[in-house]
Amino acid sequence: MKQVIGYQFQTETKYQREPYSAGAIERQGKREKLREKLTDTAIPLPPPDRENGWPLYRALNDRRSVREFQNRPVTLSALSQILWAASGVTQKAGDFLLRTAPSAGALYPIDIYVSVRSVETLKPGLYHFLPANHSLRQRYEGDISELLADAALNQDFLAEASFNLIFTAVFERTTWKYGSRGFRYIYLDAGHIAQNAALAAVSLRLGSCPVAAFFDDEINALLGVNPARESTIYLLAVGWPR
Ligand SMILES: Cc1cc2nc3c(=O)[nH]c(=O)nc-3n(C[C@H](O)[C@H](O)[C@H](O)COP(=O)(O)O)c2cc1C
Repeated sequence: MKQVIGYQFQTETKYQREPYSAGAIERQGKREKLREKLTDTAIPLPPPDRENGWPLYRALNDRRSVREFQNRPVTLSALSQILWAASGVTQKAGDFLLRTAPSAGALYPIDIYVSVRSVETLKPGLYHFLPANHSLRQRYEGDISELLADAALNQDFLAEASFNLIFTAVFERTTWKYGSRGFRYIYLDAGHIAQNAALAAVSLRLGSCPVAAFFDDEINALLGVNPARESTIYLLAVGWPR
């Protein structure tokens, strides 16, 4: 099956600013400064709890989109638990590392980045979640939450959240097999993952809000990914509800 339609859909449904929009040069400058601080440090996450926790039905009942957050840090173990719930490895089956969320063809096209503003023992910065060894790789130091909020059409709660999960799709992981139809699967995969994370958050009495309104390529530039290969498709703000 041809892959063209899927990429065209993805590209033509992007929010984009007007070419000479206000603040464009300042934004670009801020992003470049962050990239000067590129690091590549691996940070193991505390092992997740795989057995206990808030009852599922209670979490389903209590989940609400939360857009007002306290200025209070979240523990590293809470972040670890949410990342594991979102897309952690639960079983090895042959060459496949199966995860908490289903994925078309077990191809796992969604990657998770974490923009940390206030997490105990973690420096503010941008991190990449590595499910296979349940760790984070720090991309760079520096709080990008205000840039994220700005890129998300000024949804200020992103700058108040303790951290934001940024879900990207690495298209080729799925399209090599399913062609353009793979784009449907990619978006469905992201929904499963985000819901897992939202339920884990409420189980830890944290609040979360999914966000899909953003200027795609501004967030891609913050991540330093090549949008032709990998693009931001969803965000989840997480913090203590006010
Ligand atoms: C795909 C998707 C995109 C969303 N994007 C945004 C967003 O950009 N900003 C926002 O404040 N809420 C966003 N939401 C949250 C919805 O507004 C929210 O889920 C809805 O109002 C129902 O409320 P509840 O989540 O509390 O049940 C989004 C939800 C979904 C599923």
